[in-house]
Amino acid sequence: MQAPVLEKSTSVAGARRALAAAFRDAGLDAPEVDARILVGFALGLDHTGLVVAGDRSITAGEAEAIAALGQRRLARESIALIVGHKEFWGLRFQVGPATLVPRPDSETIVEAALRALDAQGLRHAPLRIADLGTGSGCLLLALLSELATARGIGTDISHPALEIARQNARALRLTGRALFVRGSFADMLGGDFDLIVSNPPYVTTQALADLAPEVQREPRQALDGGPDGLNAYRAIAADATRVLRPGGTLVLELGIGQAGPVAGLLSAAGLATEQPQMDLAGIPRTLVAFRQPMR
Ligand SMILES: C[S@@+](CC[C@H](N)C(=O)[O-])C[C@H]1O[C@@H](n2cnc3c(N)ncnc32)[C@H](O)[C@@H]1O
Repeated sequence: MQAPVLEKSTSVAGARRALAAAFRDAGLDAPEVDARILVGFALGLDHTGLVVAGDRSITAGEAEAIAALGQRRLARESIALIVGHKEFWGLRFQVGPATLVPRPDSETIVEAALRALDAQGLRHAPLRIADLGTGSGCLLLALLSELATARGIGTDISHPALEIARQNARALRLTGRALFVRGSFADMLGGDFDLIVSNPPYVTTQALADLAPEVQREPRQALDGGPDGLNAYRAIAADATRVLRPGGTLVLELGIGQAGPVAGLLSAAGLATEQPQMDLAGIPRTLVAFRQPMR
């Protein structure tokens, strides 16, 4: 599918309309929004700037730039990857081919973690946090942005993802409290963490082929949870009581239908689980568990 050929006399608003029509014909979910973002990105204009510049003619160079971005979107590259960033928890995160694009549903992990800490009166404590499979660093850095006295470690097996997480920490001025290290989930961590969060790979290997084309372009190791989707949960459950302090909290994102099996893995590992929390679509998305306090 070809992006529309834009004449240099086309107006900014006309370019938006032409791009949106091409996206609509290609069956994209949000053609107008995608066209607005990409034309704005090509011209360096925000939403208001686009409206103000609506009647101005685009230059030949601008027409080429818009067409090239449109072509990438028609090849099903996600908007976040094309523009290189995504908003999460009200913060801007750089993303790239090595990172998962942060999802709005994953904000439920941050919410659940803050709620659990508040219930224990720990919001202002000098907390130690671990984020297993940190990707862009979005979970750890969102938490540190809320918890001024906390410090944290994000782990990942992907070097390039860790580099992006470090850049995000720099951009958010959180480098002094965030460390990113390479390793498998909690393998290299010592004990006494107050909070572990993780959005691990949880798609079954078989279901990977059914994912939207944009998602299939994301790193396989960020998605593939093995034959039953539970490989990462098994690894995390095996280490959770060693890494958490007594009474410490574990918050995990869940795939559809995984609440029961994951709760089973955590209970077998000696953790006490709560009822799963729902995402915006009413799907059980987050599981909170605690290491039993010492008696
Ligand atoms: C679903 S993505 C989540 C990324 C990020 N936390 C987020 O919520 O957007 C899972 C991440 O786990 C990482 N990962 C996969 N296997 C891993 C392993 N054995 N140890 C550590 N990280 C792993 C992937 O590289 C990927 O960054």
